[in-house]
Amino acid sequence: MCGIVAYIGQKDACPLLIDGIKRLDYRGYDSAGLVLIREGRLEMRRAAGRISALERKLDGDLGGATIGMAHTRWATHGPPTETNAHPHCDSSGKLAIVHNGIIENYRVLKQFLEDLGHTFDSETDTEILAKLIGHFYEGELEKAVRRALCEVRGTFGIAAVHADEPDVIVAARRGSPLIAVVGSDEYLIASDAAAIIQHTPHVIYLSDNEVAVVGRDGFHTTTLDAAPVTKEVEEIEWTLAQLDLGGHQHFMSKEIFEQPEAVRTCMRGRIDMDEGRVVLGGLSSVARELIKAKRIILTACGTAWHAGLVGEYLIEELARIPCETEYASEFRYRNPIVEDGTVVIAISQSGETIDTLAALREGRDKGAMALGIVNSVGSTIARETDAGVFLHVGPEIGVASTKAFVGQVTVLAMIAAFMGRRRHLSQSNCHAYLDALQGIPDLIEQALDLSTQTRKIAAELVEMDNWLYLGRGIQYPVALEGALKLKEISYIHAEGLPAAEMKHGPIALITEDMPVVVLAPQGHWYEKSLGNIEEVRSRGGRVIAIATEGDEQIAHLAEHVLYVPRAPELLQPLVTVIPLQLLAYHAAVLRGCDVDKPRNLAKAVTVE
Ligand code: G6P
Repeated sequence: MCGIVAYIGQKDACPLLIDGIKRLDYRGYDSAGLVLIREGRLEMRRAAGRISALERKLDGDLGGATIGMAHTRWATHGPPTETNAHPHCDSSGKLAIVHNGIIENYRVLKQFLEDLGHTFDSETDTEILAKLIGHFYEGELEKAVRRALCEVRGTFGIAAVHADEPDVIVAARRGSPLIAVVGSDEYLIASDAAAIIQHTPHVIYLSDNEVAVVGRDGFHTTTLDAAPVTKEVEEIEWTLAQLDLGGHQHFMSKEIFEQPEAVRTCMRGRIDMDEGRVVLGGLSSVARELIKAKRIILTACGTAWHAGLVGEYLIEELARIPCETEYASEFRYRNPIVEDGTVVIAISQSGETIDTLAALREGRDKGAMALGIVNSVGSTIARETDAGVFLHVGPEIGVASTKAFVGQVTVLAMIAAFMGRRRHLSQSNCHAYLDALQGIPDLIEQALDLSTQTRKIAAELVEMDNWLYLGRGIQYPVALEGALKLKEISYIHAEGLPAAEMKHGPIALITEDMPVVVLAPQGHWYEKSLGNIEEVRSRGGRVIAIATEGDEQIAHLAEHVLYVPRAPELLQPLVTVIPLQLLAYHAAVLRGCDVDKPRNLAKAVTVE
């Protein structure tokens, strides 16, 4: 939520900041703004809407500034208007801040400031923080920021500048990610690496309650209490090319088609076929304890939660350890019982989702081993876990998650085998399973050939406003994921259900205007899924079946069949999800939706 970029150095700051927020706009894209310091004055421009609206306001007169900050917003307090866009200033008009997060005690702070005579232009909590810092300002921005933040409850990643201190940017974080970038004669502050990768791969990850002060020839880091902190400069492994469209119309399509390679990279070096086992370096320090786990809790949000539901099947089946998947936002607040031998595994693409982070902390504080399955190296969740496994699927830019989902399921499939083999799984059984897992990227490649057919189906049904997705067993989470994909990018209402639950209510909705996607690959639940298709058909519903290639029986029952290659039941979700991603993608394109930046959504949800 919200992207921040700040720059100090020798270069022209304005184009550099605009380029930076464009690379971050998947974090929020309802309004944008920037501030520069020129000739001892703040120059500020803000606009409602996309960054292009801000660019139109830059009118070529902002060159020459070598310090500034920019922000792309995902509204929390107040609608996405120009007045509510960041930056926000203090009452002197000389101090400006950009902010990602939520100031929870903003009402108290606002009252305090109003009593002192301050007035407010916007409806944002950020303006209150700007004015609070201004209130404490006595000629030293660093001190004022620290002093004000001591009064704040809530989350923040902020950057601040003051017109009287044109050689310094002060940044601080609690809960919202922030990195500082160390160039040779320039420094940047950013919400994440995407904004700065073209400048340098060297970054410092700020931890909660830390402050970074960057100047023209150096930087220092402290805690909020002013205790010096020595930070390690780390190297980002992503490349600039990974952040480009690579010939695709949208990042989502690029990422869908990257999935075979993403899964290969995710497994690379981790499967030892000679020994029939999985080698996960990230878990080696905890392996002994992990395999003795009595209970595993997977916790996540959104698509990552769906990956967790698949993982639950995999872990219970292969490792025979009780496993449950919890919404992070629920787990964190319901005082969960965490007994000895519990392992909490947070699953997160970004590694910054606030609820997932809080759930991880809740589990760890109650004595559980805290593990992570994360894509973003250096992210907060990655750094707060006892151990974990990275996805290594490369940066995911499209707001609707695709390749991260298959990466998460692949990692869970490897963790299940990692534990299973050390508990009771025979070498030959594990070998056969891993052999099949290694074949999955080729099967995904074949499933991607369904793109043309899914486009045709989408074209035929795209005017239908309500869809159902049904799945049984391990296909149930895939049904949830298919429905989520459709609703988040095409704004079509879609629900995913365990197929048998249809009879307990949703069947009342079925008419010829209700497409019903039924996941019915051959296996355990096949016959029962056919039964569900019959039930839908006999009520006039229009069935799109996801079936195993060669299944002729289903062709007589469903209006459309999307055939996927045969895969072992436990690994089928990695293949059956592909046509659902494609269907959602084409439906969104046909409806003229902004696929990579769906309305009201953001990629990294760093506020509750
Ligand atoms: C947002 C994104 C989803 C994602 C979810 C969890 O809702 O739009 O695509 O699945 O957050 O994000 P995480 O980074 O924790 O996987």
